[in-house]
Amino acid sequence: MKPSPAVSLFGAKAADSAIRRWLSPLLFLAVVALSVSLLYFAATPAVSFPPMTTVRVELSPPVAVWQPVGAAEASDPISRSSLPPVQRPVDAAVASDPEPISSAPSVQNMPESQDVKLERVLKAAATEDNTVILTSLNAFWASPGSVLDLFLESFRIGNGTSELLSHLVIVAVDDKAYGRCLAIHPHCFHLKTEGVDYSGEKVFNTPEYLDMMWARLDFLRLILEKGYNFIFSDVDIMWFRNPLLYFYTDGDFQTSCDNFLGDPTNLKNWPNNGFNYVKSNNRSIEFYKYWYSSRARFPGVHEQNVFNIIKYDQQIQQIGVRIRFLSTERFGGFCEPSRDLNKVCTMHANCCIGLRRKIDDLRAMLDDWRKFVSLPPDTRISRRFSWSVPRSCRYNINPYYNRSKS
Ligand SMILES: *[C@@H]1O[C@H](CO)[C@@H](O)[C@H](O)[C@H]1NC(C)=O
Ligand SMILES: *[C@@H]1O[C@H](CO)[C@@H](O)[C@H](O)[C@H]1NC(C)=O
Ligand SMILES: *[C@@H]1O[C@H](CO)[C@@H](O)[C@H](O)[C@H]1NC(C)=O
Repeated sequence: MKPSPAVSLFGAKAADSAIRRWLSPLLFLAVVALSVSLLYFAATPAVSFPPMTTVRVELSPPVAVWQPVGAAEASDPISRSSLPPVQRPVDAAVASDPEPISSAPSVQNMPESQDVKLERVLKAAATEDNTVILTSLNAFWASPGSVLDLFLESFRIGNGTSELLSHLVIVAVDDKAYGRCLAIHPHCFHLKTEGVDYSGEKVFNTPEYLDMMWARLDFLRLILEKGYNFIFSDVDIMWFRNPLLYFYTDGDFQTSCDNFLGDPTNLKNWPNNGFNYVKSNNRSIEFYKYWYSSRARFPGVHEQNVFNIIKYDQQIQQIGVRIRFLSTERFGGFCEPSRDLNKVCTMHANCCIGLRRKIDDLRAMLDDWRKFVSLPPDTRISRRFSWSVPRSCRYNINPYYNRSKS
């Protein structure tokens, strides 16, 4: 007879007596355990069991199935959700070895056919005073159930924002994003950049990511040259009220902030260029040209951080561009949430790294808003309602928050 491995350890005899010695108490315990659990199940109402499927759905929102979650967590494509830029002294940041920007993507040589298409799209979407709303999109953000859907949903449930969708141009930087846009939105533009593939996720601050951000900046300059004012919004910014009612009347370039110090003209504010409003005029065009050309001085630095350095430059003052920083009370984000839902215009999933966390909290944000607007008006106004987010993003704390506040 071939003994089983466990029995062979002690020999057949030892096993035999051990089984006999333990068998009756084990049987007794088994009977007791069975009856206790039967009693438990009988006494417990069925509803007290957690609805497992619902819980699971809430914990894992539909992330693009073709996107491995691990990779998504590590990346931060297009939208700026980084911690705020490190403010460097200007002289220390000046590079001695400028990178060759001739090879960097630019829209200087946009084919004529594309240019004609762009003008057609802008004309169709612009308001009476030639303002367009722009967002840029790649396949990573565009998949069904992802950030683009939440972005559009916010316009639909916001107060006075659904009308703004007819002025929104989605700038798709790859075929997949363009296809998705065409399927769900009337104003789509396919920004093709020679020799660059923008379809994948772009890991934050890689050379490709930087090229993408700089190409976008150059594209925005072109919009201004065509005579259009624009509101640029990252796609992970939810719109709850019409921002046009809350911009400064005397600003050429207005940008949202990770941290707002209280004075809209204070250059020490911590800008977040994921949301900005720019008026088309000579000053803003010159400013964009100067900003773009500054890339050569700061190799490897992305355009938002370059802005944070050059905002002090003498040339900016000479250009005379009027820079204004938007308050986080109206234009908030996870770095500094707008604490009063009666005032909020937009909320950005900044200070949050990882697509999954971002989507979780954006959804919770939309739920907060839905609950808020369903309340009777006097309750909404008399009680000061705030956000339940950041939740998933709460660990991405902003190391500059306390410092900039003090
Ligand atoms: C720029 O300034 C010139 C005159 O200095 C003016 O003719 C032109 O319309 C201005 N362009 C814009 C976009 O304001
Ligand atoms: C939406 O806007 C209207 C008109 O300005 C206002 O009466 C209403 O209270 C607003 N609702 C919310 C939820 O802010
Ligand atoms: C900021 O200050 C709060 C309390 O004032 C503290 O709990 C928190 O850890 C500080 N955050 C950082 C990043 O220093």
